Amino acid sequence: MTSPQLPPNPQLWPQRTRVAGGTWSLDGVPLADIAEEFGTPSFVLDVATLRARAQRYRKAFVDAFAGMEVDVYYASKAFSSKAVLRWMHQEGLGVDVASLGELVTALQGPVPAERLGLHGNNKSDEELELAVRTGVGRIIVDSFSEIDRVAAVAADHGVRQDVLVRVTTGVHAGGHDFIATAHEDQKFGLSLASGAARTALDRIYQRPELRLRGLHSHIGSQIQDGAGFAAAAQALLGLRAEFAADTGYALPEVDLGGGFGVAYTPGEDELDIEATAAELARVVREHGTDEDLPLPAVSFEPGRAIIAPAMFTLYRVGTCKPVQLDDGASRLYVSVDGGMSDNLRPALYQADYHAEVISRDVPGPAVAARVVGMHCESGDIVVHNVDLPEQVRRGDLLAVPVTGAYGRSMASNYNLLPRPGVVAVQDGSAWEIVRRETIDDLLALDLG
Ligand code: LLP
Repeated sequence: MTSPQLPPNPQLWPQRTRVAGGTWSLDGVPLADIAEEFGTPSFVLDVATLRARAQRYRKAFVDAFAGMEVDVYYASKAFSSKAVLRWMHQEGLGVDVASLGELVTALQGPVPAERLGLHGNNKSDEELELAVRTGVGRIIVDSFSEIDRVAAVAADHGVRQDVLVRVTTGVHAGGHDFIATAHEDQKFGLSLASGAARTALDRIYQRPELRLRGLHSHIGSQIQDGAGFAAAAQALLGLRAEFAADTGYALPEVDLGGGFGVAYTPGEDELDIEATAAELARVVREHGTDEDLPLPAVSFEPGRAIIAPAMFTLYRVGTCKPVQLDDGASRLYVSVDGGMSDNLRPALYQADYHAEVISRDVPGPAVAARVVGMHCESGDIVVHNVDLPEQVRRGDLLAVPVTGAYGRSMASNYNLLPRPGVVAVQDGSAWEIVRRETIDDLLALDLG
């Protein structure tokens, strides 16, 4: 018996992943057993890694902003399930929700409503009604019309609703244009440069049904350079100082959103969150106060950085096909039993991932490979470029790490594939926290 070792590139895998004689396990549970019991593809979540990452992010901000009020909200769009949101609440995080489904899931977690923040550029009446009725802690308003709509619902319920204004600061950041959110020409927020954000503050400040709690900025996602956050923080603090100078009201909170980058492939590093938090704390201390203006409370909304590295996807290998390339080289196409329906990110953002065969030590050399799905289009790619054993074959198990964020949450039923379940692993046991869909589930929606 070989003794268990860390996997290659351990930073990409949950902390209790081990390899012995080519077979992989998580927290003592063989991954082959998970595949056997729950089927493939499955998302596998290491609860200990998830909790540790939540603690690390919370601590990074709490330490950096020592002496100030700090709050961290888990952005549940990255992955939402009752168990995960409950665990986030137990770790002291609030939860950011951005749809009726995410809101109901959080409430059923249960996460106390006052620990929730509701986002969205086009919130429905039903969302606003449920949020105000249940006492959601903060609604981040995204348009002028929403101000009136939230005020009306609050009046109906005889409450004063806390709101933040989502400000478009003009900072352009993030891994891909589709996920950069604070430049001017896009749908989110109210612009700082045009004065719309200030107008929104003035309007909210007049409304007795609303309590103007602060300013919000989310500059984008998968950000690997902290400078954008600092620029956005300065912009918000400038607006806060201007508003205080004109009205005498110091907005109590500044929310700097999420977007902290993680490592997806062996060569990458994740954003240094401790250094980023320290730099942001310096900026807030320098620009957030003067003799008349108290420092604001500061909040953050990480999604990806908390959940992405806590999960991987387990696939079963099917067809393996060497393909001759134009330059004479060859690429091994390894097809798995999922694809763009369980991970849209490679097709949508050209996102890169890594993969390993985890069910046996495959003898022989590694070759240039591409992991592809089973859908009927050539863009159905799971991992663009990865070295895999030439002798990988049908029936082997393949794991793709760092799929916890925006994997299951953006999954579809393309080609009528049932969406994978999510299997949690802790203390040597594995259980489903989201069950695998069945074809019967899909047919139940089909009214014939
Ligand atoms: N707060 C707000 C207001 C957001 O819109 C988002 C993400 C977050 C927080 C969390 O960002 P994170 O820390 O997870 O980067 N589907 C894309 C990402 C879209 C992010 C949308 N908003 C992807 O797969 O990369």
